[in-house]
Amino acid sequence: MLSDTRSPRAIKLTEATPPVLISADKIQKRVRELAEQISADYSDKGDIVLIGVLKGAFIFLADLSRLLTIPRTIEFIAVSSYENGNIASGAVRLVMDVRGNIEGRHVLIVEDIVDTGHTLSYLIGILKSHGPASIRTCALLHKAERAEVDVKCDYVGFGIGDEWVVGYGLDYAEQNRTLPYIGHIVPDE
Ligand code: PRP
Repeated sequence: MLSDTRSPRAIKLTEATPPVLISADKIQKRVRELAEQISADYSDKGDIVLIGVLKGAFIFLADLSRLLTIPRTIEFIAVSSYENGNIASGAVRLVMDVRGNIEGRHVLIVEDIVDTGHTLSYLIGILKSHGPASIRTCALLHKAERAEVDVKCDYVGFGIGDEWVVGYGLDYAEQNRTLPYIGHIVPDE
């Protein structure tokens, strides 16, 4: 996840094992807590549809969805957030819409990270047009200090600072998505 205007050349790209920011154990514990909270909150609502935002949310969605105790179905949506190489432009474009009918359903958008908030804000707008019964949002990571738009995260795994993070679905240049922990890429001095 690279999301600001610092030069990508200024960071170490090739570290196979970036330093740990959030351990695999901490992630698994927090995902279990989120699943319990979400299951309790939706217990009287019938079923929900989890919408994972590709690609970054695929691992979080897989773990979270398997720990829920309420009826659920899975959808995916894909957007492109970065139009100018690795420099965040704020522009978001729909690459792939959900396949299933979500009209009248309770939707939970599942994100790996909310940074500026542009992606989530855009997705809420797109998904509202499908006529769901409700929309809530769940993000494993939230960089509150980077927010550029006001968008509500109903469920947050961890608040983090302005770090470049990889692992557990998040990438840098498509690398490190399958690390079991959240690592951070350290800028060169
Ligand atoms: C990441 C992440 C969110 C978005 C958040 O996706 O998965 O979708 O950025 O950033 P924002 O809050 O500033 O809009 P990315 O573009 O890195 O694509 P990926 O999930 O395919 O890696």
